[in-house]
Amino acid sequence: MDKILVRGGRRLQGEVEISGSKNAALPILISSLLTAEPCVYEGVPDLADIYTVLKLLAGLGVRVKKDDATGAPGQFTLQADRVAHLEAPYDLVKTMRASFLVLGPLLGRFGAARVSTPGGCAIGARPVNFHLKGLAEMGAEIEILHGYVVAKAKKLRGARIYLDLPSVGATENLIMAAALAEGVSVIENAAHEPEVEDLAAVLNKMGAKVEGAGTDVVKIEGTDQLHGVSHRVIPDRIEAGTFMVAAALTDAEITVRGIRPDHLDAFLLKLKETGAVLSVDRDRVKIAGSGRSVGVDFTTLPYPGFPTDLQAQMMVLMAVSRGTSVITETIFENRFMHAQELIRMGADIRLEGNRAIIKGVGGLSGAPVMATDLRASVSLVLAGLVAEGRTEISRVYHLDRGYEHIERKLSALGADIQRIKG
Ligand code: UD1
Repeated sequence: MDKILVRGGRRLQGEVEISGSKNAALPILISSLLTAEPCVYEGVPDLADIYTVLKLLAGLGVRVKKDDATGAPGQFTLQADRVAHLEAPYDLVKTMRASFLVLGPLLGRFGAARVSTPGGCAIGARPVNFHLKGLAEMGAEIEILHGYVVAKAKKLRGARIYLDLPSVGATENLIMAAALAEGVSVIENAAHEPEVEDLAAVLNKMGAKVEGAGTDVVKIEGTDQLHGVSHRVIPDRIEAGTFMVAAALTDAEITVRGIRPDHLDAFLLKLKETGAVLSVDRDRVKIAGSGRSVGVDFTTLPYPGFPTDLQAQMMVLMAVSRGTSVITETIFENRFMHAQELIRMGADIRLEGNRAIIKGVGGLSGAPVMATDLRASVSLVLAGLVAEGRTEISRVYHLDRGYEHIERKLSALGADIQRIKG
């Protein structure tokens, strides 16, 4: 298994281009199942999770073509005109939970699906009950057999669905199912995330009638048939935020390019509170560190609140800031796995249930550490950038799931980082 070696203490400088959003691309690639016509997607990041979903779709019978010849990086054409299997196997769903999103489109278009349940994961139980309840309300018959969700429905029908929590995945699964259902569906307490809006934009280009994506209430008027689409996925707001934390941590001056700053409002406000100097433009943010940041309190919340996917990164900044900060995690029950590793690097962090109390220390020291999930692993890379000496991060396959060419991008900014092939 590969490792990442970081030698801390370099001050970063320069510009970094942000990739397409992983969390937007995954459901969008899956939405190709809703039509027999070709769908062309641009800005798809080069990541392990993307290849997992493409493998899953190819296994169902979707024709997948990487459009290298066009010269456009990250362009794929998918065509679901020969779907032969309606099954998502355990080995793919367990490695990437977003695979579960094939359930809605398969059921909507083909009337049947057999999709493995995802099981638990490092950051919490993460059930799929809202997905299943919503589909049952649309008329699907659902059973759980041998670890698989076995679902069928001659024709899904529109329904009024209330989500107990604004789940991103459930909102996306249900919007895709409702696009080919008979009649009107209304999802209340829907997730507002920009990735949901991007999916709705794709579906509308395919001829669906989705209104209100990005708000509490999403209304979908079902249609009989959808057609092909060409779409560029939105930039990755979490990758953008990660590089901004890297800048604040190393007292750097960095321009983070090719982004949508409006997707990062809550995060940018918090970063400003720490003392970072930000200059925000239409598609870029220039960020300058403040010497030494000030600790701030924050709570992770559904969008437009502070994203849980940037909590671990921000914890590293708090660990070396002045004063004490309190982080409250409200989205996932077990998302402080990085704290133990940061403590090994000299951070002063106390965990109390879903709260982390962090007393800023003067500096961190490099150590061998272990990545436990995607965002935790990048937080260890960030910690390595400011730590004195060597930080060796193992289990970096987590990192490869969600950060495109991270060593290359950080090296170009002046970091001392390398991958040791395992
Ligand atoms: C998505 C993102 C992930 C992000 C998360 C929250 C993708 C591929 N992943 O994950 O990076 O951290 O949103 O912003 O887009 N829940 C239930 N029952 C359900 C569904 C969810 O109880 O049926 C709970 C979850 O356990 C969690 C909360 O709802 O506590 C939010 O989860 P959800 O928004 O569904 O996250 P994902 O879509 O899995």
